Amino acid sequence: MVHQECINCKTTYSINEVVYFCKKCGDILEVKYEADELAEAAQTSDWKTKPLSVWRYRPFMPIHESTKLVTLGEGGTGLHHSERLCNELGIKNLYVKNEGENPTGSFKDRGMTVGVTKAVELGARHVICASTGNTSAALAAYAARAGIRCTVLIPSGKIAYGKLSQAMIHGAKVLQVKGNFDEALEFVLKLAETHRDIYLLNSINPFRIEGQKSLGYEICEQLNYEAPDRIIIPVGNAGNISAVWKGLKEFYELGLIKKLPKMTGIQAAGSAPIAQAIKANADKIVPVEHPETIATAIRIGAPVSWKKAVNAIRESGGTAETVTDDEILDAQKTLARVEGIFVEPASASSIAGLKKLIRRGVVVGDEKVVCITTGHGLKDPDTAIKQSEKPIEVDAEISAIEAALGLKKPNVVLAR
Ligand code: F0G
Repeated sequence: MVHQECINCKTTYSINEVVYFCKKCGDILEVKYEADELAEAAQTSDWKTKPLSVWRYRPFMPIHESTKLVTLGEGGTGLHHSERLCNELGIKNLYVKNEGENPTGSFKDRGMTVGVTKAVELGARHVICASTGNTSAALAAYAARAGIRCTVLIPSGKIAYGKLSQAMIHGAKVLQVKGNFDEALEFVLKLAETHRDIYLLNSINPFRIEGQKSLGYEICEQLNYEAPDRIIIPVGNAGNISAVWKGLKEFYELGLIKKLPKMTGIQAAGSAPIAQAIKANADKIVPVEHPETIATAIRIGAPVSWKKAVNAIRESGGTAETVTDDEILDAQKTLARVEGIFVEPASASSIAGLKKLIRRGVVVGDEKVVCITTGHGLKDPDTAIKQSEKPIEVDAEISAIEAALGLKKPNVVLAR
């Protein structure tokens, strides 16, 4: 039977138990299926006839058959072959998996549709999360869809405006904590432990990871059941890279793909405990006490799923890299101008990381690379405006517009 299992001591818990950490050793949990459970689901259900989306994979999700789904139509995002960016970077085979195309504009929707569906299945009436922005936007939307109460804790002054507006308009109770994300997370963990009627939907919740694993499935399907050589992904709290890896391994074990990609995590230089641990070949991360980066989404110093992420990177033969704020902003602009894909700064770190890995000779010419861009650029309009050319104000006259564009006066007047 499908169950929850501690990633360390392997203690098991029922799929219907509300538990966030192992009661024996305190480590985090994951959803596990028995050997043939997924294989049977893959063979007996008609999932392949369903449109590309998170719920195409319903037989691979730990949700009861009779449960009503809380959905806004998530997943099925574009995998864009990026020829112009290939030319710019000097590689041959790059795809951008653009998660900004999800209903609330980030990959978090994949986890939230499953997480909030599970919350309702468990009878929860009040959900909570700590967030750098996107998780709160997604949770607020899905809680609204389900008609349940939602509370979000965000670091005061350090969340992009688009995301804040989403949490607010969907009716969540928004608490701005005078501290960083890691501190906010500590508070929601305490609240969920002591107030058992509040259900926690941060990415330590294994049901969220189940939704997000569909990102790994989808990439393989969009490449005709072939995994790429490498997947490059921005890393913050480290849930997503763990989820994508879980999905890929499940597809591999089902025989749906023949090889696995190298998982490559990118962190902002000022918030990079996982990348540092990978580079130092260390067993543990050293949390960053005062994380800083313009990419506020990944401004996280003590990633809760670090063990899963380090394992995904090592097991897959991948790597991790850090990128500076300047490199992130440069990559954001390049992607917007060369491919027409507008992503928020944290998302652009995958492109910035790719650039660096090419320069270092880690990524070579004909590798098939998928860069995941995690959130839409409209999430953070301030940063986009700050680094772009200012609009030019002109008089409402054709001559002023021509002058501003540097156009010569036409010498022929066309008849109307
Ligand atoms: N990219 C974006 C745009 C994000 O919002 C996040 C995380 C990540 C990457 C990193 O993903 O945490 O799974 O490693 N945002 C969380 C939030 C922390 O609260 O919205 P991760």
